[in-house]
Amino acid sequence: MKDFIYHAPTEVVFGKESEEQVAGLVRKYGGHTVLVHYGGGSAKRSGLLDKICGLLEEGGLKTVLLGGVVPNPRLSKVHEGIDLCRMKKVDFILSVGGGSVIDSAKAIAYGVPYKGDVWDFYLGKADAVECLPMGCVLTIPAAGSEMSDGSVITNEDGGVKLGYGTQLCRQKFAIMNPERSFTLPPYQTAAGVTDMMMHTMERFFSPEDDMTLTDAVAEAVLRTMKACVFDVLKDPEDYRARAQIMWGGSLAHNDLTGCGLSGDWATHQLEHELSGMFDVTHGAGLAAIWPSWARYVLQQNVSRFVRFAVNVMDVPNDFTDPVGTALKGIEAMERFYHSIGMPINIPELIGRDITEAEIAEMVRKCSHNYTVTQGRFKVLQPEDMTAIYRMAARQA
Ligand code: NZQ
Ligand code: ZN
Repeated sequence: MKDFIYHAPTEVVFGKESEEQVAGLVRKYGGHTVLVHYGGGSAKRSGLLDKICGLLEEGGLKTVLLGGVVPNPRLSKVHEGIDLCRMKKVDFILSVGGGSVIDSAKAIAYGVPYKGDVWDFYLGKADAVECLPMGCVLTIPAAGSEMSDGSVITNEDGGVKLGYGTQLCRQKFAIMNPERSFTLPPYQTAAGVTDMMMHTMERFFSPEDDMTLTDAVAEAVLRTMKACVFDVLKDPEDYRARAQIMWGGSLAHNDLTGCGLSGDWATHQLEHELSGMFDVTHGAGLAAIWPSWARYVLQQNVSRFVRFAVNVMDVPNDFTDPVGTALKGIEAMERFYHSIGMPINIPELIGRDITEAEIAEMVRKCSHNYTVTQGRFKVLQPEDMTAIYRMAARQA
């Protein structure tokens, strides 16, 4: 096991009516004038937004509203938020939404005290040294941003999607009421579960091979998510299953399943180019890439894929044929993706074939103009990225 620091400082307030505590939590973490940040309308339609604003105002807090965050959140909205926060002297940001809203809030929070352009952080040109405090009311379990140290922003100028992570942007609190996810459409539910499972798998497929306890936690998260997604697709108001999924999304990305591991993250990096170029749902993009990544890197550590096949995908272990067992695990994952409405290749994701020129452009961006590799389970050079995109470009 590698040495590690486990730091998950977010106060989680979980359960029915947990949002009732919002004003007290904002005050506890020093907020007076609160930017309430939200997305395209689901929080408005459900009445959650009005409820939160009412609770904040009753609690003696001033509110400033900024909605309109879209999935794959845009830099222009971040700039708008920074200007608004400065003008209104906002001292706390509250997100009501999912990963896109929380990531947009994180970028705004970095940008307010910074003299330059916040995009500098995402480009790696500068490091944030301060950040406004933040909390969130989660409405979609998926990205894990409510407990993660990362944020991912898309610059519309060139469709460039980049991540930036520091401890500064950890949410002070995360309010999680599983009932708030009852209204999620099946596609977002399935894409969310795909994303959280991938956050666990990115860590499971690490170069290290000596992490019994962390593996056991990871396998429990994966098996639970895999089972519960069918329950909520059948009955969107199944509180028990929605609750497992909501907590699972946080455990999958608060690094619990990564203690002692270096993680891989190539599938995420390859996917960010897909959602940057085609504006697709992140979780669905991951499903379109992972089977090709898995087949491409399989020989790197066959026994790890066998463990995944047997312990997660319930494939019988054929001890005479480890590669065959491993491949059956990948095929079982593809069947699982299809069964929850996820794609398993790029044409299924974007509804058409992808061109060689588009693949070349994604490889250029993913390798930062051919200067960086991706992944650790197998270190991917630009030619490996091309090969994986080409595999994913083929229909099954
Ligand atoms: O905008 P509204 O109207 O709210 O609709 C949203 C959106 O269309 C809808 N939605 C959310 N809660 C709902 C609901 N619809 C009905 N009922 C509800 N209760 O769901 C759609 C997707 O929301 P979004 O926030 O985009 O989803 P998600 O949480 O999957 O976030 C995706 C973003 O997070 C990034 C992704 O790249 C992507 O940009 N990620 C962030 C990470 C992080 N910060 O640590 C890690 C992840 O790997 C990921 O990259
Ligand atoms: Zn993800």
